[in-house]
Amino acid sequence: MTETRENWSARSGFIIAAIGSAVGLGNIWRFPYVAYENGGGAFLIPYLIAIFAPMAYKKLMNAESLGWWQVMVTLIIGIYYASVLSWAGSYMFYSFGQQWGTDTQDFFFNTYLQNGEGLSLGFVPVLFFGLVVVWAAVMLILYGGVRRGVELANKIFMPLLVILFSILVIQAVRLPGAVDGLNAFFTPNWEAMSNYKVWLAAFGHIFFSLSVGFGIMLTYASYLKRKTNLTGSGIVVALANSSFEILAGIGVFAALGFMAFSAGANVEDVVSGGIGLAFIAFPKIISSLGAGGDLFGFLFFASLTVAGITSMVSILQVPIAAFQDKLGWSKNKSVTIIAGGSAVISTLMFSTHSAITFVDIIDYFANNIGIVGGGLISIILLSWFRRPLMKQLEGHVNQFASVKLGRSWNFMLTVITPLSLLMALGLTLKSIMAEGYGGYAASTLWMVGGGVMAFFILGAILFSLVKDRHS
Ligand code: PFF
Repeated sequence: MTETRENWSARSGFIIAAIGSAVGLGNIWRFPYVAYENGGGAFLIPYLIAIFAPMAYKKLMNAESLGWWQVMVTLIIGIYYASVLSWAGSYMFYSFGQQWGTDTQDFFFNTYLQNGEGLSLGFVPVLFFGLVVVWAAVMLILYGGVRRGVELANKIFMPLLVILFSILVIQAVRLPGAVDGLNAFFTPNWEAMSNYKVWLAAFGHIFFSLSVGFGIMLTYASYLKRKTNLTGSGIVVALANSSFEILAGIGVFAALGFMAFSAGANVEDVVSGGIGLAFIAFPKIISSLGAGGDLFGFLFFASLTVAGITSMVSILQVPIAAFQDKLGWSKNKSVTIIAGGSAVISTLMFSTHSAITFVDIIDYFANNIGIVGGGLISIILLSWFRRPLMKQLEGHVNQFASVKLGRSWNFMLTVITPLSLLMALGLTLKSIMAEGYGGYAASTLWMVGGGVMAFFILGAILFSLVKDRHS
C-alpha cells in the first residue's frame, strides 16, 4: 500500500468492504455460542448497548505499543480463525450424504475433531488437511493482491450466504420445539445481566464481530474521502452485521429447541458446550431438509467459508502492513514471513486432538482481554489524555455526519464505557486467577492463555522499541 492512496469509488465501496470484513464466522459460529454461554437472552441487552460504544471511535494517538498490542491480537486471531474456517470448509464435504448422522454433537467432537482429554497433541490428519487448504487459499489471495478477488468473492458469496442462511433460519423456526429454543434466546435473564462477565463478553464480541479495534477499519477509513458521513456508514455496517448475527442466533436456538424436543430434554441440556454450537445445530437443520439438504448444506458451508476467508484476509492485512511499514519489508516478504509463519504455527496447533481446547481458550483470552484491553486503553487515551484531539475528531465527524455526535456520545466515551470496561476487565482477570476458565486444568490455562497474554505484552513492548526501518 505504498502507492498513492486510492479512494473508494463510492461510499458504498467502503460499506461493502467493511461489511465483508465484519461478516464472517463471528456472526454464524461465534455469536450464537457466546450468547448461549452468557445467559441467552440476557446477553442481548449488554450486546445492544455495546454496539453503540465502539462505532464512531478512531485511534490517532501517539502510542505505538498500543498499536503493536493490536497487531499481536490480529496475529493470534488469524491463527485460530483459520482453524474454525477449516471446520466450515470440511463441513462442505460432510454435507454430501449428511455424514454427520443424527447425533451431530457426537460427530463433531468425536468423529471429526477426535477431541481428546486434557491436552493431547496427537496428530489428526483430517484437520491437518483442512488447515493446509485454508492457508494455501489465504496465502494465494495475499500474494495475488487482494482487492479485486476479495471484492468479487464478496459480491457473489455474501448475497448467496444471506439467501441460503435466511432459508435455513426459516426452516429452523418451523421445526417442532423451535419455540422453546427461541424463548431461551429472547427471554432476558436478569440475574445473568448483573454478571460482569456477560458484559465483558458482549463488548468483546462486538469488537470482534465488527472488526473494530484492530486497525482494519482504520485502514479502510484511510481510503475514504475527507468529506465522508462516518456515522451514517458506521450505522449501516453495524446494523447489517448485527442483523446477520441475530439471525444466526435465531437459527441456532431454534435448532436447540428442536433437539430438545426430539430428545425429550431441556434446551439447556441438549448440548454439552457452546463453542461447537454452530457445527452441531446447523447440520441438524440441514438434515431436516431431507435429501435436498446435501446440496444445500454444501452451498451453505461454501458461502460461510468464503465469508470467513474474506474476513481472514482482512485480519492478516493488519500485521502484514504493520511489519512492512515498520521494517521496510516488501509486501511479498511480509506475506511470506507473517502469513507463512502463522500458517505453520496454526497448522501444527490445530491438527491435534486438542484443537477445540486451543480454540476455546485462545478465543476467550484474545477477545475478552486482548481486544477489550486494547479498545479500553485506546478509549482512555483518547478521551482522557487527548481531549483536544477528541474534540477535533468530533468536530470533523460532525461536519459531514448525518447522525451527529453530541454530549451523550461524549459522556459514553469518556465516562460510562471506560469505567464499565475497566471494572468488567479487572473483575474477570481476578476471577480467572482465582477460578480459571471453562473448567480447564490450571496448567493448560497458564500455558495457552498465559502464552497468548505474554505474546501480546512482549510484542507490544518489543516492537515499539525496534527502530523504524521505513524510509
Ligand atoms: N469480524 C470477523 C467475523 O465476525 O468473523 C472476524 C474478524 C475480522 C475479527 C477481522 C477480527 C478482525 F480483525
